[in-house]
Amino acid sequence: MRVAVIGTGYVGLVTGTCFSEMGNTVWCVDVDEKKIENLKNGIIPIYEPGLSEMVLRNQDTGALNFTTDIREALEGSEIAFIAVGTPMGEDGSADLKYVLSVAKSIGVNMKHHMYVVDKSTVPVGTSIKVRETIQAELDKRNSDLTFDVISNPEFLKEGSAIADCMKPDRVVIGVDSERAEAAMRELYKPYFMNNDNLIFMDIPSAEMTKYAANSMLATKISFMNEISNICERVGADVNKVRRGIGSDKRIGFSFIYPGCGYGGSCFPKDVQALIKTAESYGYESKLLQSVEDVNHAQKEVLVRKVKKKFGNDLTGKTLAVWGLAFKPDTDDMRESPAITIISALTEAGAKVTAYDPKAEREAKEFYLKGNEKVSYVKSKYEALSDADALILITEWKEFRSPDFFEIKRLLKTPVIFDGRNQYDAKRVAEYGIEYYQIGVKGIDMAEVMA
Ligand SMILES: NC(=O)c1ccc[n+]([C@@H]2O[C@H](COP(=O)([O-])OP(=O)(O)OC[C@H]3O[C@@H](n4cnc5c(N)ncnc54)[C@H](O)[C@@H]3O)[C@@H](O)[C@H]2O)c1
Repeated sequence: MRVAVIGTGYVGLVTGTCFSEMGNTVWCVDVDEKKIENLKNGIIPIYEPGLSEMVLRNQDTGALNFTTDIREALEGSEIAFIAVGTPMGEDGSADLKYVLSVAKSIGVNMKHHMYVVDKSTVPVGTSIKVRETIQAELDKRNSDLTFDVISNPEFLKEGSAIADCMKPDRVVIGVDSERAEAAMRELYKPYFMNNDNLIFMDIPSAEMTKYAANSMLATKISFMNEISNICERVGADVNKVRRGIGSDKRIGFSFIYPGCGYGGSCFPKDVQALIKTAESYGYESKLLQSVEDVNHAQKEVLVRKVKKKFGNDLTGKTLAVWGLAFKPDTDDMRESPAITIISALTEAGAKVTAYDPKAEREAKEFYLKGNEKVSYVKSKYEALSDADALILITEWKEFRSPDFFEIKRLLKTPVIFDGRNQYDAKRVAEYGIEYYQIGVKGIDMAEVMA
């Protein structure tokens, strides 16, 4: 099929590339001229495992094309995906200005029937706004062209986005016509040669499904963080509690890892947007508000532990930070707990030496820009030289099994504050390193060494 994908960010670039991998002819459009120029020259704007090779391969065959001109992209396309950002607006609700501006451009430029598919995460009712916006432009042109609006929320996870797109658990599609359903079946059939898991439904339910999924996952994380805070106070070990509850199939092990809070471009804004949607219909979501509040507070837990150890005034202390991205295998730092934690530490007077395998540029150029107390290094051990303690924020694989002798040797006072509970506390203590995790009382060195 011929497909236009409008918005070439994490979602647009990955899904467009995966459509081209299946043999479709794809045009990816973006208003960011530099990004498109780079992509035309084979420079990939984001880090996502496997993406670069797939982009280059499909660009070579002509299956994948990049442009800033939406007319060029729509010209031969049957389907137009909207994959632009829906950031949090000032009041917390989803800001639809980019989505509606794309809808307007489609209305202005379409020359034949189109399936307009909303892949951006948008509140219930957005499809109606998209439809009205396109229709208004067609009316201005006195055009009797027809179009279908479809909702196809995206569930890919940054870090495994290619695998998620090529082998999706399920594809949720909201339609209100048989021809729209047939077109989407044709597009997605190659992804489900053995076992069709296309879930068709009405458009409002599809729009809602995305928010319900993200809110459920965020709830699991905040629930476990809440339990971890209680564990710490009552003297229980959340790591053991996690294993104890996760083995119950009704609960499961996914998304019950205690940590220093969720971040990323989706959970924070989507939970907030659902709270706002509910509010606009006269319903107060107490549970989702608590999920947000717990997450907000959780980002402070590591900072409190550091201050308990070194005092509220951290002047003169240098802290090594491992991990800046909001999760491993991505360079995305949107809403990363690292931003809150590092800012709080430097505000308290500390200097921070940070290492992240992929997100250094994002930190330097955007999220920690101008914070002169933060410096960046190229390896995890380099970060430890002259540091008073190590703070682990993102659980990249290369941090999972480090050389504890080297950590002990390099740190001035061998202390680790682990925001992702990566290590066995007893083992770390045996190296003579003080170890603080989330949801576990600080290790008693005397007891361990006895
Ligand atoms: N990132 C994720 O993991 C993820 C997962 C599932 C769903 N989503 C949702 O998908 C949507 C896109 O997210 P993202 O992370 O890819 O955003 P992004 O910020 O990475 O990319 C959005 C892109 O759209 C471009 N853009 C803005 N206005 C445009 C216009 N008028 N025409 C063409 N391009 C335009 C921007 O320049 C940018 O490159 C959001 O609604 C998000 O909630 C994201």
